[in-house]
Amino acid sequence: MQVYLDNAATTRLDPRVLAKMRPYLTTKYANASSIHRPGQQAFLDLTRARQTVAKLIGGEAEGIIFTASATEANNFIIKGVARANRSPKKNKIIISSIEHPCVRESALELEKEGFKIEFIPANSDGLITPAALQKLIDDTTILVSVMAVNNEIGTVADIVALAKIAHSRGAYFHSDAVQAVPYLKLDVKKMGLDFLTLSAHKFYGPKGVGLAYINRQIKIRPLIVGGGQEDGYRSGTYNIPGIIGLAVALELAYRERSAYLKKVTALRDHFWKSLKKAIPEVKLNGSRTKRVPANLNIMFGYIEGEAILIDLSFKGIHVSTGSACSATNLKASYVLRAIGLDKNFLNSNIRFSFGRFNTPAEIDYTIKCLKETVKRLRSFSPVA
Ligand SMILES: Cc1ncc(COP(=O)(O)O)c(C=O)c1O
Repeated sequence: MQVYLDNAATTRLDPRVLAKMRPYLTTKYANASSIHRPGQQAFLDLTRARQTVAKLIGGEAEGIIFTASATEANNFIIKGVARANRSPKKNKIIISSIEHPCVRESALELEKEGFKIEFIPANSDGLITPAALQKLIDDTTILVSVMAVNNEIGTVADIVALAKIAHSRGAYFHSDAVQAVPYLKLDVKKMGLDFLTLSAHKFYGPKGVGLAYINRQIKIRPLIVGGGQEDGYRSGTYNIPGIIGLAVALELAYRERSAYLKKVTALRDHFWKSLKKAIPEVKLNGSRTKRVPANLNIMFGYIEGEAILIDLSFKGIHVSTGSACSATNLKASYVLRAIGLDKNFLNSNIRFSFGRFNTPAEIDYTIKCLKETVKRLRSFSPVA
């Protein structure tokens, strides 16, 4: 049996999404910037996809800027807003201490350019509280960036409250909502977001396409220049198949949201109950209540997460120790460090992330294998 429990790293392309993308990969291949008829048809289809996405996130179509990834969108927003709005009175960027590396590294690059960067600490539940932001923000702040859902531990931030604080000090607010679809209802206006980031491959869409939602009233400098596509905000030939795929995937995600949440929650609850019964001394990382149902980040204690991961993978079960991006880097997760995990337990964690294509039988098989794996590894452990 092959069991994929790494849906926070990426998801399988929904066959319905592929079906809608296929014509744009085969017969409808025109460049949407071309003036001839097929080009104009492609531009029309692009415009419709943009309108669909705008409606689903409660924003204006002209605020949607398609990119090649969420990594690019986050770089564009963090660097673009900082660089375009810098002044002798405003020079500070605030991000949370548990942001994805593409936000964190963007902020660290800005630090080299002389910007002041502050990190909002997370509490032991992995939450970024409004009080913690209040302590750091002042009138020199240009932008605050806090992710809606954390990719490693699945915790959910109170975006509305955080955005209000940012605005009350004259700062703009961005949220990386890559892990939030379809768990949170997205509405940029109601949430108070000036900027938002999404990535299609996290919600059963294709890889290689993301978006930055921008408030066009706010100055932002492009990251990629060239032919002037996306109204000059992001040059590069429009990835029509990818953009169509993103729009269809987002539409399906919200149309089928309630059944999906029910399914994923049932799988997660079944997993957690069975796990606690099968294996002693396991602990959940992050808030118990303010979390998305797709994620369980679990500390096993006494044994290495990587050893568990590799053993499980031999048995056909595919999980991760944290974010996919840090999988090639065995340094302890800075997210787990930020939530105050004991240093002896930093490397003892596995992220299980559930999705549309998982079944209860897969969960039962995983628990059975996990029980054997953990028992065996603990039997070798000098500290168990
Ligand atoms: C929270 C978060 N932000 C950004 C990214 C980067 O997304 P992409 O793969 O589209 O660059 C990821 C992917 O792991 C993520 O989980």
